[in-house]
Amino acid sequence: MKLVNLFSRNQSTHPNQNTSRRRLLRTMGISSAAFGATVLGATINSSAARATDSSPQLTAQDTNTTVAQTQDRATRNNKPLSGQVAIVTGGARGIGRAVAVRLAKEGADVAICDIADQISSVPYPMAKAQDMEETVRLIKAEGVRALSVQADVRSRQQMESVARQTIAAFGKVDILVANAGVLTFGWLHEMSDAEWDDVIAVNLSGVAKSMQAVIPHMRKHRYGRIVVINSCNSRFGSAQSASYNASKWGVLGLVKCAAVEYAKEGITVNAINPTGVRTPMIINEATLTWADPNNPSPAAIENYLRNSLNAQNVGLIEPEDVAAGVPFFCSPDSRRITGEAMDIAAGANVRWNS
Ligand SMILES: NC(=O)c1ccc[n+]([C@@H]2O[C@H](COP(=O)([O-])OP(=O)(O)OC[C@H]3O[C@@H](n4cnc5c(N)ncnc54)[C@H](O)[C@@H]3O)[C@@H](O)[C@H]2O)c1
Repeated sequence: MKLVNLFSRNQSTHPNQNTSRRRLLRTMGISSAAFGATVLGATINSSAARATDSSPQLTAQDTNTTVAQTQDRATRNNKPLSGQVAIVTGGARGIGRAVAVRLAKEGADVAICDIADQISSVPYPMAKAQDMEETVRLIKAEGVRALSVQADVRSRQQMESVARQTIAAFGKVDILVANAGVLTFGWLHEMSDAEWDDVIAVNLSGVAKSMQAVIPHMRKHRYGRIVVINSCNSRFGSAQSASYNASKWGVLGLVKCAAVEYAKEGITVNAINPTGVRTPMIINEATLTWADPNNPSPAAIENYLRNSLNAQNVGLIEPEDVAAGVPFFCSPDSRRITGEAMDIAAGANVRWNS
């Protein structure tokens, strides 16, 4: 690749646009949607999807919902995101659950996906199937439709199946919140290949694969809102979290590239960078011990954040504080904002200069 291309801000017409459009339409055709699709030997857990499908709110007619019908529902419900359809990755718990519930409160139908399984290099317990069920319950309690698909963001095929299942159930995808993430820690020279590779695969490549799964559909409809839950660790270096920080710095580059590639097609791509958040990723024995081996307690990490990182008088912020930023990037008010990274960081952001 020539340097001029690598650094180019040129937003000219997408190369091979016609060819790729034909190919993408074929790939994303609703006719190819199938519940319980088997991909690369891995079966997307359709039991979660079917369990949700049995909801009285989701009928056979809903499966054929058109964009026009969905917009009609929007007018009736009169909430900011009524008639919109969102996918939230890593939606079983933590920030992903808060985002899913917030989007539901705003009126959107929400599909969550989550691995709901352990990745062996991750030193704390990851989400379980029951966590997905709880998020679905909370979404439905807001009076909108919910879909739940067990899927791994590291698999492009599984993420394409999530997109197809969402389109089959709700007619379209307007919003992607790429939130799934994991944390490993340790000195770089001691880090195992798995501790490095798994974090990059989930936090960086997983965001790219989630985008790849929905962008063809969004291009077809010339509309999309992509929000990545990134981290303020994309703004600085810190000891013993090289894989995590590197993945999050990488996401900023990915967000800016995707923003420019699809800017002329009605798709915006933005990131949110939270400071420390009170979620199971942080409040667990392994993370608390890493943060302060002499005092592995929530109080210790709260004190560190309050006294050494955040400007405001707060330690861990709440998942709902992060979720509050998402509807803005999905609303008409932000239609001229793309390629942006917004810090929700209790003022930690005063410490960096861009
Ligand atoms: N908690 C924090 O302090 C904090 C701060 C800044 C950014 N973040 C980021 O916010 C996002 C959410 O983190 P959280 O704190 O809610 O963590 P969490 O561990 O509570 O939730 C993450 C969810 O992602 C799911 N997940 C992990 N790997 C997956 C995969 N391969 N495929 C599908 N799902 C997968 C997990 O099962 C879990 O349900 C992450 O990207 C994280 O890096 C968290």
